[in-house]
Amino acid sequence: EKGTYPHYMLKEIDEQPFVIRNIISKYKDENENIKLDEDVRTAVTQADRIYIIAAGTSYHAGLVGKEMIEKIAGIPVETHIASEFLYNMPLLSEKPLFIFISQSGETADLRGVLVNVKKLGHPTLTVTNVPGSTLSREAEYTLHTHAGPEIAVASTKAYTAQMAVFAILAVDAAQKRGVTMEFNPLQELAIVANAMEIFTERKEELEQVARDFLSTTRNCFFIGRALDYHVCQEGALKLKEISYIQAEGFAGGELKHGTIALIEDGTPVIGLATQPAVNLNIRGNMKEVVARGANPCMISMEGCEDEGDTLVIPRVHEYLTPLVSVLPMQLISYYAALHRDCDVDKPRNLAKSVTVE
Ligand code: F6R
Repeated sequence: EKGTYPHYMLKEIDEQPFVIRNIISKYKDENENIKLDEDVRTAVTQADRIYIIAAGTSYHAGLVGKEMIEKIAGIPVETHIASEFLYNMPLLSEKPLFIFISQSGETADLRGVLVNVKKLGHPTLTVTNVPGSTLSREAEYTLHTHAGPEIAVASTKAYTAQMAVFAILAVDAAQKRGVTMEFNPLQELAIVANAMEIFTERKEELEQVARDFLSTTRNCFFIGRALDYHVCQEGALKLKEISYIQAEGFAGGELKHGTIALIEDGTPVIGLATQPAVNLNIRGNMKEVVARGANPCMISMEGCEDEGDTLVIPRVHEYLTPLVSVLPMQLISYYAALHRDCDVDKPRNLAKSVTVE
C-alpha cells in the first residue's frame, strides 16, 4: 500500500536506503563476509566472458554492472539489449556465462534469449526482484534483488538494487580470483544508503529544479562521462516515460558530433559530475552547450563539485556513484511529471511487465 504517499513512485524512491540495507543483510554472513551461493560463485569465476542481457532500466543497470565486473573482478563483460541479441547474436566466447537482469522476471525478450542459450548448453543466472518468476525458474541460478514489490511502472528501487547486487557479485568474483581488494562492498553500500537518505529531506530542492528547468520545455539533454553517462541514459528514460518530455542521455564528448545542433536558447542540459577522472572534461562539455544558449543544471558529487553547481551530492565510493546520483534524476522526473499533470504511476502506452515480444 502507498500509505501517506501520493504515488507509488515517490514511495519507492524513498524506500531505496532501506532496500540497500536489506541487500547488505541478505548478502552478509555471520563473519561479515559476502554470502553467496557457491554455485553462483563458481559460475561467475569460471566464465571467460559474461553476457548481460536486459531491457529498459534493467539494461541501464547492466551497463553499470559491466563496468563493476570488468573494473573490480577483471572479467570481460558485454551488456546487450535483449530484443537485439535475440535476432542478432554476436560471436560468443568459449565459456560464456549469461546473466539476465529483470525486475519482473517475466520480460519476453529476455526469455527468448534464455531459451536459445540454454539450448546451446551455456550457464544462465537471473538477477531478479521476483524469485518465483519465469526467468528465475528457467535459469540455472538466481540472485534476488530484495527490493520488495515495485508497483509504479517507472522502475526506481529495482534499478539501484540491481546495481548493488552487481557490486557484491563483482567483489566476490574478485576475491575468488585472488585479486586484492581495498573495497568492501557491504561497508561501502552502507555509506550509499546513508547518502540516499538525504534525498528524503531534500525533495523541495528537486521539485524546484524541476520547476526551473522543465516546466515548459519540449526537450532536455542529460550529459555525463564514464559511469555518469549510464546514469544519464537512465535519467533520460525516466523523464521521457513519465513526463513525456523528449529527453536523451549522451556521453559528454559525443554531443559535439552532431547532437549539439539541437541546443537552443534555454534548452535544459542536466550534467552529471561524480567521476574525478573526467570531471574537467564534463565541465568543458557543459561550457560548450552553455555557449550555445543551454540552461545548465549541474549535479556533482563532493570531491568533484564546483561553484555554481545546482546540487552537490554526498561522496560515496567511485564505483557506487550511480546508486546515489540517480536519485535526484528520479525525483526531478517525478516532479516534472506532476507539474505537467501526468499520471505518474501509470504513464500512457506502458505496462509494468512486458510479456510480449
Ligand atoms: C522503465 C521500465 C522498463 C523496464 C523494462 C524491463 O522505468 O520500467 O524500462 O525496466 O521493461 O523490465 P524488467 O526489469 O521487469 O525485465
